[in-house]
Amino acid sequence: MAKKIFITSKLPGKIDRYLRAKGFTVSVYNGKEPITKNELIKKAAKANGVISLLSDKIDREVLSELTNCKVIANYAVGYNNIDVRYAKEKGIVVTNTPGVLSDATAELTISLILACSRRLIDAEKFMREGKFKGWMPDLFLGTELKGKTVGIVGAGEIGTEVARRINAFKTKILYFNRSKNSIVEDEFKGKKVSLNYLMKNSDIITVHLPLTADTYHIIDREKLKLMKKSAIIVNVARGEVIDEKYLIELLKKKRIKAAGFDVYENEPDINPELTKLKNVVLLPHIGSATTETREAMALLAARNVEAALKGKKPITPVN
Ligand code: DGY
Repeated sequence: MAKKIFITSKLPGKIDRYLRAKGFTVSVYNGKEPITKNELIKKAAKANGVISLLSDKIDREVLSELTNCKVIANYAVGYNNIDVRYAKEKGIVVTNTPGVLSDATAELTISLILACSRRLIDAEKFMREGKFKGWMPDLFLGTELKGKTVGIVGAGEIGTEVARRINAFKTKILYFNRSKNSIVEDEFKGKKVSLNYLMKNSDIITVHLPLTADTYHIIDREKLKLMKKSAIIVNVARGEVIDEKYLIELLKKKRIKAAGFDVYENEPDINPELTKLKNVVLLPHIGSATTETREAMALLAARNVEAALKGKKPITPVN
């Protein structure tokens, strides 16, 4: 009998067709909003494989109901939405989509940095409001990247791609990472430093750590307090890596210059204080949101499920 795959959302790239062509029975959740936990349990109960989104919380309760499931392929590089340890106990392999989204996420990071440093969003709003009355020497003065120190928190694949791009702006690079990153050091003259040193000495801080028990609020009050008054911080990783409430306090007091958010502590809910601040740029978790990347992620997730259900080693397992 054909193995069953449940996909918790319609994905770019027609991967349902790909998987059907490989002999699987595929059902796709078609709701306009993310699937609820109850629906997920109901619809995935008989599935042998599930392709999930980063917004699907796959905890013990859900995993306990997935009695036929052998593989969960998360459509994201991050997999903090899944209780990976419990999945392993239950014999379920979990996979993610590393690599294929690094370029898109790095591009978005650079966009967010520039949006903050050159005040792009405010300037654009100014135009729409018909306020542009002519060129002025001090109109929307921003900060140049050239010569500035950029601190990369988490120099994995995405952090490395950010280093590659930010290096072209003639910046100096510091990075915080568990292990040495030879590409960042050899190609972009990056220097591995402690997180405290990075927070204290960077003009721009960009966060690329996965969310784990060790990285939850790793950028806490004490670390945030070390930032320069002129510093900009951007986060395209996971909101919970930073103490968001305290960051908002600093932004309110103009204790730092600006912050760019692509991710939030209580996504999709965002702290209402954030929308009142002028010195922030707010994006709706679109780090990997390019057609090319989302299609590549879908194909990788599909191939992971295919491999696992055919008794082969998945391409990018996490447990
Ligand atoms: C991921 O894949 O984890 C990213 O957050 C998507 O943008």
